Amino acid sequence: MNRFQLNQNRGLQVNISQDEIINVFHSIFYASENDHCGPPKLYNGVPIHKNPGDMFNYQQILFTQKPDYIIECGAFQGGSTMFFADTLSLIGKGKIVSVDICERDERWYPQVEEHDRTILIPGSSVAPDIVSKVKDVVKDGKSFFIILDSLHTQAHVLAEIESYAPLMATGNYMIVEDSNLNGHPLPPEWHKQTMEEGGPFEAVVEYMSKYNDFNIDTDMENRFLFSYAPSGYLVKK
Ligand SMILES: C[S@@+](CC[C@H](N)C(=O)[O-])C[C@H]1O[C@@H](n2cnc3c(N)ncnc32)[C@H](O)[C@@H]1O
Repeated sequence: MNRFQLNQNRGLQVNISQDEIINVFHSIFYASENDHCGPPKLYNGVPIHKNPGDMFNYQQILFTQKPDYIIECGAFQGGSTMFFADTLSLIGKGKIVSVDICERDERWYPQVEEHDRTILIPGSSVAPDIVSKVKDVVKDGKSFFIILDSLHTQAHVLAEIESYAPLMATGNYMIVEDSNLNGHPLPPEWHKQTMEEGGPFEAVVEYMSKYNDFNIDTDMENRFLFSYAPSGYLVKK
């Protein structure tokens, strides 16, 4: 095991493992984002709520796989939608279908709506009529990148995985974001609803216990030492 020993000159010794350092840093990093430290984090002028390491991983997966469609559940103002749409423009292929229930005042910024690679669908990502609408829009697609970042309860995320996994081809990625909630490693008290109802991590565990159609790519997940999607880089078998 990797251990760092900090010997201080009064004889104080602190033993802390690399995993502990990473988990504490992960929580501090996440907290600083939630506390809105410093100027807002914008991607191409739109607020975004992603771990930059994960974003780097996503662009690399996208440039490698060149999917026909990205399906995004949960957009808020659309910073992530814009990031994916711009990435598809650079690749020169594909569209992003972004779904958000739009319950808050803010929704996709105008420049996201106007982007020629976005298709925006207001509604719940698990409502049968919305799932049908998404499937109709992407019916000519053969390869997908799917990212779940909407309501973070176990039941909701499980329903999203079950709704969209059947679309996917071998090797396609589905990312389950915010699986760091509820003790993985963020303290459970951080998010009351996932503490009480289970969160994205528990949804992945439940899905994997019922079905056998995904592997988890922990190598990609851990390239920057921590991810907001632990055990959430699902690769279709
Ligand atoms: C964490 S924010 C998304 C952040 C965005 N992906 C980003 O990285 O900038 C979560 C979003 O999920 C949306 N949401 C909540 N429940 C939903 C549902 N049932 N279906 C679709 N979207 C939902 C909320 O409206 C909110 O905009």
